[in-house]
Amino acid sequence: MSQIQFEIDGKKVTAEAGMTILEVAQKEGIFIPTLCHHEKLEPYGGCRVCIVEAEERGWTHLVVSCVFQAKNDIRVRTRSEKVDRIRKTIIELLLAHAPDSPPLVELAKTYGAEKDRFEKDPSFCIHCGLCVRYCAEVAQKHAIGFVDRGIHKEISFVPEIAARECNDCKACFPLCPTSYLQAAFVLAQALAFPPPSD
Ligand code: SF4
Ligand code: FES
Repeated sequence: MSQIQFEIDGKKVTAEAGMTILEVAQKEGIFIPTLCHHEKLEPYGGCRVCIVEAEERGWTHLVVSCVFQAKNDIRVRTRSEKVDRIRKTIIELLLAHAPDSPPLVELAKTYGAEKDRFEKDPSFCIHCGLCVRYCAEVAQKHAIGFVDRGIHKEISFVPEIAARECNDCKACFPLCPTSYLQAAFVLAQALAFPPPSD
């Protein structure tokens, strides 16, 4: 596979063509925050906290580093006034849904994000898709999916599959950046697939 060379935060880096900016940054020990990325899953680009600036032939644009493939000779900035400002707003929007999410609270400290900037809509799920994608791509059970769209989008367990598979798996639980997944499971189990009583 061919190699490319470019710059991240002033450091010259070499990578395989096809690697995303995030993959190269992680390989080089350069930190970019993520909420929906997982190395075992296909790139998703859902949360947007991993945006960076990429300068290419004099033009600077914002790209989502977990899905954007690195190119020869681009100059990437993982922090800048603009990147930080947009990241802060993204974090504030997510905090309106999940104000106590530990990774969000940590990010809020770094970027000076305010918990109360946007009207609260405590759905507690930030739609990172980690649970849904892990269940489909790694566990290959398809016991959980998204239903509805836009602001009404939410995760939902498929009772016939979840009743059979989830109790012995729960591999998705630690991936959830909020407390929503476990709560949704307990509720779904109580309503749709109660465990057999002794
Ligand atoms: S329940 Fe948790 S892991 Fe699943 S999409 Fe929502 S925030 Fe992400
Ligand atoms: S980590 Fe890149 S969009 Fe979520």
